[in-house]
Amino acid sequence: MDLSTTYLGLKLKNPLIAGSSGLTNSLDDLKKIEAQGAAAVVLKSIFEEEIVMELEETFSQMSSQGFIYPETMEYFDYDSIEDTLSRYLKLISDAKKELSIPVIASINCVTAQKWTTFAHDIQEAGADAIELNAFILPSDFNRSTEDFEQVYFDIVSEVKKQVSIPVSLKVGYFFSNLGPFLQKLSHSGVDGLVLFNRFYHPDVDIDKMIITASNVLSSPDELSTSLRWIAILSERVGCDLAASTGIHDGGAIVKQILAGAQAVQVASALYKNGFGHIEQMLSQLEDWMEAHDYHSLDRFRGKLSQSRSKNPAAYERVQFMKYFRDRS
Ligand SMILES: Cc1cc2nc3c(=O)[nH]c(=O)nc-3n(C[C@H](O)[C@H](O)[C@H](O)COP(=O)(O)O)c2cc1C
Repeated sequence: MDLSTTYLGLKLKNPLIAGSSGLTNSLDDLKKIEAQGAAAVVLKSIFEEEIVMELEETFSQMSSQGFIYPETMEYFDYDSIEDTLSRYLKLISDAKKELSIPVIASINCVTAQKWTTFAHDIQEAGADAIELNAFILPSDFNRSTEDFEQVYFDIVSEVKKQVSIPVSLKVGYFFSNLGPFLQKLSHSGVDGLVLFNRFYHPDVDIDKMIITASNVLSSPDELSTSLRWIAILSERVGCDLAASTGIHDGGAIVKQILAGAQAVQVASALYKNGFGHIEQMLSQLEDWMEAHDYHSLDRFRGKLSQSRSKNPAAYERVQFMKYFRDRS
């Protein structure tokens, strides 16, 4: 059974990538992830703010230039910023020495400003690729759609100037014209799009009357948003597509490959079930392939993408009219 795939020009032994999270932040865990069969790892993101802080002389200088967001000021220990960056580069080079699977570094960014030079350091440290975790909540009422969307193109363009390794962009789905926007992004020089990141979900504790976080980890029924958009965009984009969010078992990998994904990224399922779950998910994928007589992923990749499926309208159906009518 051939589970191999290519993603960002990297040859992967199977489509399962351990997505960026707290589980991909130490060499020990990375080794365990590799031992369980993952085909690649995306390291925990380093934040643009952490990089910028080291580049700037003083905290107050930064603050006066408006680079820093109040909430990140509370969070970061500025004295340790330099350590943070060198630790990150060391994690990359150690991982490259110790692992044989590709190591993808990750940067969380919201602008295309001077932090982008750090992408070059990441390449020098040996990373096989860089994933840009870019998301700006469209909640600034003074910002136009064009301005808001342009940042993504600027980020890709600035980072591509710094590196020759592949660059992917991990985005959310809060865009007014998502399909055409992602299609345009796919032709910006980026090597892959990761659909989608999953963000902090605010909630309210009505007893304490404070804002809290809810559903930090995804559940399997959150698969449908990325599944829909992988299927719609498959064969309509100029770069690879990787699926992220709600992939908790081998069946979900099968679905995303049928929709057209080159690879999938898994995070919550590893938090919930441990690293041993990787092997289980891969054997479920293999069992399904055997049962359906597919000996390689290419034989069924994209078979149910919107452009190839016999029922393309299913991916565009958004209302439940029939469902409710039949039950009344
Ligand atoms: C605790 C936690 C930490 C995460 N940290 C990062 C991060 O640093 N960078 C990033 O791009 N995504 C991060 N993610 C998002 C995951 O990589 C993934 O895109 C998201 O959780 C959806 O996939 P899942 O359903 O498999 O969890 C994190 C997710 C979790 C649960």
